[in-house]
Amino acid sequence: MEEEIKVGLCGLGTVGSGVFKLLSENASLIKQRTGRDIIIKRVATLDRYDNLGLDFSNTEVSDSVDDILRDPEIDIIVELIGGKTIAKKIVLESLQNGKSVVTANKALLSEYLEEIFRAADLAAGTLGFEAAVAGGIPIIRSIRQGFSGDRIEKFSGIVNGTANYILTAMSRDGVSFDHALKAAQEKGFAEADPAFDIEGIDAAHKVILLMAVSFNAYFDFSQLSVEGITGIEPIDIAIADASGFVIKLLGSGSRTANGFQGRVGPALVSKNNMLASVSGAFNAVSVWGNFVGETMSYGAGAGSYPTASAVVSDIIETIRAKSNGMDNPLPLLNINAEHLTHQDIIPPEQTDGAFYLRLRLDNTEKSVGDIIRILDEESIGIQSITQRPISNDLPTQKYMIIFTESANEGQVKIAIEKLNGLSFVTTLVKMIRVEQD
Ligand code: HSE
Repeated sequence: MEEEIKVGLCGLGTVGSGVFKLLSENASLIKQRTGRDIIIKRVATLDRYDNLGLDFSNTEVSDSVDDILRDPEIDIIVELIGGKTIAKKIVLESLQNGKSVVTANKALLSEYLEEIFRAADLAAGTLGFEAAVAGGIPIIRSIRQGFSGDRIEKFSGIVNGTANYILTAMSRDGVSFDHALKAAQEKGFAEADPAFDIEGIDAAHKVILLMAVSFNAYFDFSQLSVEGITGIEPIDIAIADASGFVIKLLGSGSRTANGFQGRVGPALVSKNNMLASVSGAFNAVSVWGNFVGETMSYGAGAGSYPTASAVVSDIIETIRAKSNGMDNPLPLLNINAEHLTHQDIIPPEQTDGAFYLRLRLDNTEKSVGDIIRILDEESIGIQSITQRPISNDLPTQKYMIIFTESANEGQVKIAIEKLNGLSFVTTLVKMIRVEQD
């Protein structure tokens, strides 16, 4: 009879408790799939755990991850505590000690991408990180295995459940930003520090991982252009809606003739684009391969059970590899380590895109000519230009909405600086990218 697999679980929060439940509820099914019993031998947690309804009769619970790291019987260490200090020690030390590691820690992996992946490449054990990107959607596995014959040209998607939940609540239900964020926190979607979600940082962590797996290279987090959703106002949501768009926080990466592009930011997405109908905490990622064409993966992007599903899929993959005597069955970044390179991300100012510009003007009559002149000076073509009254009490004030043709982002930013300097522009110009279908 095959020996049981012993797991050490670091962290028993939203995801950790979901992993515990899944392994217990689906134990017999998982045994049929792996031939092994999985025992969570140790748990390390600083949180209260007696109220979670979990059976700890086979598990020793302590507040120290060292108890897990020092236990020679543990085969797989699951890091779900988050953060970058103790989590980094857990991941690196475990790999150095020949253990396999499963982590959902996108912040850690994206910041120390090269160091951790190099350590994993040299290690006897495996590193699983499916749960770090897009919750329950097996997007890492799709790219690394499903599209392993394709050259990935680009990906674009909604990879932060909390931000999508907030934008959906604001646009569909008219809920305020703060209320929607609170609800997302209560549902267990948000990061411990929700600034990561609303400032686009969490999505950026995931984009760096998607870029690495898609383009088979290391990228620096610091080179990624990152903008969150805190600047999105109800007026932009309303104008987008009237113009046939919804506003989504998108994360994307692409391979171009000039190098690699990557960004996170709000975008106007046409209602005809499938991403427009991804609502609440759901995520979706479109991936374009040079042979497969466009694909889209959709599912729950955050929350206890979907993320636990991804963690356990990595535990099972690890066990199957072990059972087959394979230490590192798949190259982590979908390419053999000797071919991995470090690549730069092109600054956003050197890329092109179409943009939505919203100006608030006093005395529109005199202003249109100046605005058109400034855009023309920066070679920005105009697709449409419309005016919208603000309220009856402010008869001389109007919003002017401009949709540009595809233009250089650097020049658009210069034009905005000039527009902001005009005496009749009363509020700084709002610029949002328009996603090209
Ligand atoms: N806070 C993250 C989100 C959790 O909302 O997407 C899943 O990574």
